[in-house]
Amino acid sequence: MLATKRILLVIGGGIAAYKSLDLIRRLKERGAAVRVVMTSAAQHFVTPLAAGALSHDRVFTELFDREAEQDIGHIRLSREADLLIVAPATADLMAKMAHGLADDLASAVLLASTRPILLAPAMNPAMWANAATRRNAAQLAADGVRFVGPNAGAMAERGEDGAGRMAEPLEIVAAVEALLAAGGPLTGRHVLVTSGPTHEPIDPVRYIANRSSGKQGHALAAAAARAGARVTLVSGPVNLPAPSGVTVRPVESARDMLAAVEAALPADVAIFAAAVADWRAASEAPEKMKKDGGALPPLALTENPDILATIAHRTEGRPRLVIGFAAETQNVVGYAQAKRVRKGCDWIVANDVSAQSGIPGGVMGGDANEVHLITPEGSEAWPRASKTEVAERLIARIAAALGEKESES
Ligand code: C5P
Repeated sequence: MLATKRILLVIGGGIAAYKSLDLIRRLKERGAAVRVVMTSAAQHFVTPLAAGALSHDRVFTELFDREAEQDIGHIRLSREADLLIVAPATADLMAKMAHGLADDLASAVLLASTRPILLAPAMNPAMWANAATRRNAAQLAADGVRFVGPNAGAMAERGEDGAGRMAEPLEIVAAVEALLAAGGPLTGRHVLVTSGPTHEPIDPVRYIANRSSGKQGHALAAAAARAGARVTLVSGPVNLPAPSGVTVRPVESARDMLAAVEAALPADVAIFAAAVADWRAASEAPEKMKKDGGALPPLALTENPDILATIAHRTEGRPRLVIGFAAETQNVVGYAQAKRVRKGCDWIVANDVSAQSGIPGGVMGGDANEVHLITPEGSEAWPRASKTEVAERLIARIAAALGEKESES
């Protein structure tokens, strides 16, 4: 059953669009609320009138529609859905999605979405087999987009057959039910996590780094995935396996990390657990620096961008919950409270990394952690626990906070 589920159906321009009309009916029969966006190409195959009659709602077709932008807008269209379906997903729509293009309502809605997206591709078998479409499909899968079909069989073009037929409406419904049922408290959310140290190059063989192992950040990404979220893990160099079900974006320097974080937005939640180097070499030597017995080479430093503060201070596209970590050696809660305000984030997870904290192996690189959670309401001391337990507790708090924010708005 799909009662109470809100589904946004994007109809692309292909002959299979007639099956999408039946898909609307099947989804409605199961209790879902269905809203339809059609590309201009889709309207050559089926009419907004037909789609609207079946969905019992107006159909959205224009990106710059004065009336629609005032009362609804593409951002709200994508946010007010539990799941997005693209059926038929044409080669062109897939290419636009894979590259983040947003020059019409359908592609803008898809780009703005943080919800699960299910594609039902439909195209000529040669287009489906084309290297460009293969690349785009692989990229979309890596980005967390799900697929149903295409199936093999006779095509509209006479005499052609092969993989390219859109999945049948009931197959698409089954895929929707499976996707929405595989739910945890963060199903449908996009969680972005940074983890590990950064490496700041001095010359082609040397770099500045720190002792971060990435264990806490990776544990957070794994816990968010177990809670049903789509997870992007932007990680500096670590010796850890990629957590299952998580999209990993490996980076080296702080500047790479900032670029990867910005590319991964929008997200519902961003957790900055990486130990980003505060400084980098002011200039990177193009060749390996030589030890020639003469004067020691000077090492001038310059400041790195503050990734957490940059994202937390965004006015547009700021994740609803931005969480930083703070390693302190004294006055842990006091410094962390000040840091929360200065960095503009919602919460800070603070830990005492001084030798006195008494954690075997130390916090950096060890398996245990003892943290304080600092929020606008105050601070809580959490008992010492494994990094996995700390991650699970934080993820549960995040799920609860998002639920509260939603019921307020
Ligand atoms: O200022 P400090 O380094 O103590 O702040 C720690 C928090 O800020 C962590 O969440 C860390 O991931 C983040 N940070 C960052 N970019 C930096 C420095 C810190 O995102 N350049």
